[in-house]
Amino acid sequence: MKIGIIGGTGGMGKGFALRWCRNHDILIGSRDAARANEAAQEYFTLAIQQFGTVKGKIAGKDNLCVAKESDVLVLSIPYENIDSICSQLLPNVKDGCVVISPIVPLTKTDAGFEFISFKEKKPSAFELVQKYMKDKSKLVSAFHTVSEKKLIDPKLILDSDIFVCGDSDSAVNIVNNLIGEIKNLRPILLGPGSLSYLAETATPILLNAMIKNKMKNPGIKII
Ligand SMILES: NC(=O)c1ccc[n+]([C@@H]2O[C@H](COP(=O)([O-])OP(=O)(O)OC[C@H]3O[C@@H](n4cnc5c(N)ncnc54)[C@H](OP(=O)(O)O)[C@@H]3O)[C@@H](O)[C@H]2O)c1
Repeated sequence: MKIGIIGGTGGMGKGFALRWCRNHDILIGSRDAARANEAAQEYFTLAIQQFGTVKGKIAGKDNLCVAKESDVLVLSIPYENIDSICSQLLPNVKDGCVVISPIVPLTKTDAGFEFISFKEKKPSAFELVQKYMKDKSKLVSAFHTVSEKKLIDPKLILDSDIFVCGDSDSAVNIVNNLIGEIKNLRPILLGPGSLSYLAETATPILLNAMIKNKMKNPGIKII
């Protein structure tokens, strides 16, 4: 399976690439193909240092090429850029491409981290992305509460749960399997995409708890 990561030069993109290259080819996407290529080379070197060998290759391309070639596409971009990026890319994905949104509508105020969708009465990240999907059922939201700092260390066992929301069982299954490939991460289905805002709100809750209680990159686990 070819997994494309739009905004793959960011911290989350690096983590996804390192975790999934053991079994899949990874395409790192960027607005700048040279930056994508540089990141891809860096991640591949790190992966070989960590694992010795990996089954997949890591290559870098501009975001549009990545969108056209991927079987699974992760939108690893800020909430503020959904409209500009998704309007350009999502009409060009392959038929059947599963799109993953880990995007959190997050802002920092004097009070702490807040959820943009509530504070500014804006759509959830899922709702905003779904507007641009060719096949709306192929969008799945997940990975909102996993810390980039932990994801990029492929030897670290994460031992936490990942909330998953989506409208198609087959698309959700593909994402659940990718979550399961990351040791000790467990997918927890919350419901259809219309409930994604619930999963997205978990991130500001977690970040405020982290800061106020001096915790280090916490995750969520249901017991
Ligand atoms: N960081 C975390 O721990 C964490 C945890 C859970 C969920 N998330 C969510 O995951 C997503 C990615 O997080 P991140 O921390 O990796 O994000 P990031 O580093 O802020 O951005 C990721 C990439 O998005 C691209 N980008 C930035 N500004 C852009 C713009 N104006 N227009 C188009 N592309 C732009 C950049 O790639 P190029 O410049 O190469 O194009 C950048 O490397 C976010 O939505 C975040 O809310 C993050």
